[in-house]
Amino acid sequence: MIVEGLLTSTDSDGTLNIAPMGPIVHGDFQSFTLRPWAGSTTFQNLLQTQRGVFHIVDSITIIAEAAIRRLTSTPDTVAAEKIEGFVLDDCCRWFEFNITAIDTTHERSEMTADVVHAGVRRPFRGFNRARHAIIETAILATRLHIIAREEVTSAVNFLSPAVEKTGGKEELAAFKILQDYIDNFYKEGPSA
Ligand SMILES: Cc1cc2nc3c(=O)[nH]c(=O)nc-3n(C[C@H](O)[C@H](O)[C@H](O)COP(=O)(O)O)c2cc1C
Repeated sequence: MIVEGLLTSTDSDGTLNIAPMGPIVHGDFQSFTLRPWAGSTTFQNLLQTQRGVFHIVDSITIIAEAAIRRLTSTPDTVAAEKIEGFVLDDCCRWFEFNITAIDTTHERSEMTADVVHAGVRRPFRGFNRARHAIIETAILATRLHIIAREEVTSAVNFLSPAVEKTGGKEELAAFKILQDYIDNFYKEGPSA
């Protein structure tokens, strides 16, 4: 199963990067298959340092902002316990991993991540349609260059009522950030 969450990685100087990622989870989170695109900072960092931390979260703002590389502030973190890396303060569970195999023969690389330490910070707050809709919209926002505009517009129109009906302030704000980003992309082009 693919689980959507947040991945922290560092470059060789220790600089933190945070990105939403959806690894394939094996067993009860004993290992993952990560598939970061070659153009992403996550890909470069994992190639360089071969370690990171995957987080299960239930807040949506960082997912929305980090997906489009518009983090408004760096989230609080603490040092990881078994690897050199960072654990997000605001997460439900985290998994510290080492990369043990890398296959870069395809455009979307595959990296095997063996979990060396896991922890629980707080209980998961529960399923929410608005948050799921924002995850879908955030994924669309990262693929505007490969998905037809009509398809994106129709998906966002379909997802929007779930956000309005079931979201709180945080969800409405996160959805707006993504909507503005998508609108801007079509107005100004990919560099906007
Ligand atoms: C829920 C979710 C899951 C994602 N999963 C992946 C993934 O598995 N691989 C990938 O390359 N990008 C994935 N993305 C897109 C990246 O998060 C996005 O391209 C981001 O800008 C990469 O950031 P980085 O360059 O800081 O690594 C996902 C986005 C979202 C919202």
